[in-house]
Amino acid sequence: MNNAIYPLFPYPLVVSGKKYEFSSAENDYISKLEMIDNIGNSMSKNDKILEDNELSDLKVFIDEQVLNYKKNLLQLKDENEIYITQSWLNNSNTSQFHPRHKHPNSIISGVLFLDQNKDGHLPPIRFHRTLQMYPVDFSFTGLNEFNASSREFDTEQGMLMLFPSLLEHDVDKNTSDRTRSSISFNTFVRGTIGGKEQLTEVTIS
Ligand SMILES: [Fe+2]
Repeated sequence: MNNAIYPLFPYPLVVSGKKYEFSSAENDYISKLEMIDNIGNSMSKNDKILEDNELSDLKVFIDEQVLNYKKNLLQLKDENEIYITQSWLNNSNTSQFHPRHKHPNSIISGVLFLDQNKDGHLPPIRFHRTLQMYPVDFSFTGLNEFNASSREFDTEQGMLMLFPSLLEHDVDKNTSDRTRSSISFNTFVRGTIGGKEQLTEVTIS
């Protein structure tokens, strides 16, 4: 009999099987967004771009994926709605990057990539282990889900990633001559959470 291995309490990162196809009108709207400086890169001044009519089809696509995450993966009770709060465009030009960060005041965060990245020149997104498992820095003979401290994913046009907002991530310096563009968003919860008897009840409208 083989030993059983249980991957206890993993962080669910969902990569959409379906890729969103941007229309030329959507690309036009995105290319005209006013950008302001962010740490290491730039972001749109508009922090609610998914509320604009020009991106309403994209919002339908994202809402569907968020609902699937909430309902089938997290199995949150029906009365709790997870809705998009802020949404914005990120641009990393040559030599720009995304410092390691998480998304406070959000439940599930997401990112959707705009560049085709056919030659794989754009830097991948990298997620980091939240809690170190052992109190020493080991050297490993191979990496797997149980010993890796981070994991990278190459990006594709229209690919959506959803992840718990407190999962830290970053992107290395863009060494290509292209702009690495993505749309990010945060979410929050509506409805009653906690319980009356446990004295943890909160209703968020
Ligand atoms: Fe992020």
